[in-house]
Amino acid sequence: MPSSLDTPQGAARLAESLLPPLGNRWLHTQAVAARARAASTAVSEEDRDLLVAAAWLHDIGYAPELRATGFHPLDGARHLETLGAPSRLVRLVAHHSGAVYEAEQRGLSAELAVYEREDSPVLDALIYSDMTTGPAGQSFDFDGRIDEILERYEPGSEVHTAISKARPYLSAAVERTRARLSDQPM
Ligand SMILES: [Fe+2]
Repeated sequence: MPSSLDTPQGAARLAESLLPPLGNRWLHTQAVAARARAASTAVSEEDRDLLVAAAWLHDIGYAPELRATGFHPLDGARHLETLGAPSRLVRLVAHHSGAVYEAEQRGLSAELAVYEREDSPVLDALIYSDMTTGPAGQSFDFDGRIDEILERYEPGSEVHTAISKARPYLSAAVERTRARLSDQPM
């Protein structure tokens, strides 16, 4: 039986079946998964595999064969749903990295709202992993990553506007994750 999609193995396998042709996006994904693994002590032991699985799958919605709305968190979540993925995994992918902000720009808030957002250490750590990893897998600090996105997408574009609005929300998630990581006994 293939590994469940909410395990690192099952998630990595699905990601690897979709993302390698996308080049940098695949490099980014592998690095986000590694970052999530390294940060996984910021979440409870039973949620660590789920965090790493969500990291592997957060950007699968960019795969051309999954494209439906053109909004990758939603396209990714819907695809996972058709595969029978566990609900928390679907919802984490739907809501990764402040997706509500971009959904609003794209007029897709109602479509995204079908998926309930869990505000949890897991979502925080997923945001942390994505927001400290560059578009080709480089390591970035949070502000460097936000600035990089703002430069890559034109002012006035959905992503540029959404990321500008989401910045405080994303920053708070990164800070909470850092605090959880530094609270740990060595
Ligand atoms: Fe993404």
